[in-house]
Amino acid sequence: MPAEIIDGKKISSEIKENLKGKLENLKKKGILPGLAAILVGDNPASQVYVNMKTKACEEVGIYSEVYRYPRELPESDLLKKIEELNQKKSIHGILVQFPTPEQISEEKVILAIDPKKDVDGFHPFNVGMMLAGKPTFLPCTPLGIQELLIRSGNDPSGKHVVILGRGSLVGRPLAPMLFQKAKGANATVTVCHTATKDLASLTLQADILIAAMGKAKFVTADMVKPGVVVIDVGTNRIEDPSTKSGYRLVGDVDFDSIKEVAGAITPVPGGVGPMTIAMLLSNTVKACEMQSRDRSTD
Ligand code: GUN
Repeated sequence: MPAEIIDGKKISSEIKENLKGKLENLKKKGILPGLAAILVGDNPASQVYVNMKTKACEEVGIYSEVYRYPRELPESDLLKKIEELNQKKSIHGILVQFPTPEQISEEKVILAIDPKKDVDGFHPFNVGMMLAGKPTFLPCTPLGIQELLIRSGNDPSGKHVVILGRGSLVGRPLAPMLFQKAKGANATVTVCHTATKDLASLTLQADILIAAMGKAKFVTADMVKPGVVVIDVGTNRIEDPSTKSGYRLVGDVDFDSIKEVAGAITPVPGGVGPMTIAMLLSNTVKACEMQSRDRSTD
């Protein structure tokens, strides 16, 4: 039987509908959450992501500002802008779209953002709180994956989750999020990476397989066990002359063959991507609520 398709678009719409209710309540108190997005350079994928993020803000009723800079922007100018936004009362969340051009250190950018406005969950303070089991802001893609698993009826508790990739945006934060003793987690987690030997022997043990290594169609049907739940985080552009743009997006797993073996699978696009955006909105509302509380007790 072909796998159930886990519809990230539908699940993210449900989350956005819930947020609309929260935003209505905040509006009654005269509070409007605000997000500032910064994009440096003209990376086409980053432009698309930032546009999708601000469009989603508009859709649910979050105020947003976008700052677009040429790729030569000096690092000091960016850090100055971040400091200005740290102080700005109408802005509760700050996001600098990565990757940044090479003259800009992503580490310095992350450290410059006030942890209270770090809606990406990248600041070492927020990472540390997560590792201590006291999460503040969790990174949007890992959080979206966890929500997707829970809301699709695939709670990771007690399952063997195998993560492919240890990148800073997905694999590295996701592993401790899923093995902590908490609701929607409590899994046994294996992280595979470039030095892992006999990868298939590990992927074949997965109850839940999360592919986040950025290699188009890397995981094939012979690498998974029947009934596995597959979360595909990959968004790889491959040439396709039959499309208007000349390319199409494919994931890190070979969807067509794996859907015949898996129990459930996320599509690309329409799986993890919309969840990342929904979690960014959710983190922005959370940041606003926390800052409003702080200000009312000042
Ligand atoms: N680039 C790719 N994913 C992300 C993300 O989640 N946040 C930011 N800021 N940049 C990214």
